[in-house]
Amino acid sequence: MATDQHTTTATDRPRPGVGGGHEPVGQEQLWQRAQAAGAATAVAHPNIALIKYWGKRDEQLVLPAADSLSMTLDVFATTTTVRLAPGAPGDRVLLGGAEASGPSAARVVAFLDLVRAASAVPHPAIVDSRNTVPTGAGLASSASGFAALAVAAAAAYALAADTRGLSRLARRGSGSACRSLFGGFAQWHAALDAGDDSGADAASFAEPVPAAPTLDPALVVAVVDAGPKAVSSREAMRRTVATSPLYRPWVASSGQDLAQMRAALAAGDLPAVGEIAERNALGMHATMLAARPAVRYLAPASLRVLDAVTQLRDGGVAAYATMDAGPNVKVLCERSQAGAVAARLREAVPDASVVVARPGPGACLVAGDGR
Ligand code: DP6
Repeated sequence: MATDQHTTTATDRPRPGVGGGHEPVGQEQLWQRAQAAGAATAVAHPNIALIKYWGKRDEQLVLPAADSLSMTLDVFATTTTVRLAPGAPGDRVLLGGAEASGPSAARVVAFLDLVRAASAVPHPAIVDSRNTVPTGAGLASSASGFAALAVAAAAAYALAADTRGLSRLARRGSGSACRSLFGGFAQWHAALDAGDDSGADAASFAEPVPAAPTLDPALVVAVVDAGPKAVSSREAMRRTVATSPLYRPWVASSGQDLAQMRAALAAGDLPAVGEIAERNALGMHATMLAARPAVRYLAPASLRVLDAVTQLRDGGVAAYATMDAGPNVKVLCERSQAGAVAARLREAVPDASVVVARPGPGACLVAGDGR
């Protein structure tokens, strides 16, 4: 949150988007209570990119090479409490109830340092974060994690930030997190034309993207392997940008995909949305396969899911796949066909756990500790 601070008003607080889940009424009251108590709890959901973010142009500010566009889910929420601890020797980080140390704790502490730098409050804090999604398996736990942390920390540290400011703040924790501030569909602006670093930092945030009310999508998530990935997305991105000959061409085509995706969402054209998302994701994985050394996230079970998706389409079901920095596959389809799609994926990979997700709400504060 380096540059402009926005004045906070009742209307620009983060509030749930579509999909239900949390009660929007009372957000303003929760912000006031949090500031008075020096403690706040926020809930955020992961988002899955339909147009991928893959590659940074500025590592420190987390500025992406291109715009991306995602759907926030209604499953796999993260709940995070931030409690100021005046007089404590330093920050404490609890992940899933256990004391965290090493790089994951350091990343949270670095994020709190950013919040403290933007706030008048210097105290350390206790962060208690719980995921309902396996961490590090390409299921966007860093997106829900840093979105929840941004909202809870901003409230506990009495930061004057509106939703746009919170999206920028979340971006500094993990790029994709800036999109989880919003429910439904959101686009993260790369802000390539925003001039110098501070101009780009101010202009790189996510915003909701309109979709036709007739669009009624589901994302069927096939968790084929819930273990942590061998190469972090951060490292894989870096390597792809630095060494893959396919990277620049993919970035160029991604810009066209994004424009077409917006049009397809506005028209409520699910097959077009799915086709564009699938080709964008496969293109991203192609850039990684061409990196030196190659990064390959897809496993044999992922390919079995992709085969099942092709067969569903051959049988007349509009189903389309997207994959992130891990072997798990998410299949976009009409909500009315999600049950049939899930059954087919379970048949293809009997060991997989298959979860049907729908568009979910944006990050927001909750009362108590959210449990
Ligand atoms: C493949 O947001 O986890 O899921 O900014 O380095 O924390 P950092 O990366 P992260 O990368 C997500 C990559 C992706 C695509 C996407 O979500 O757009």
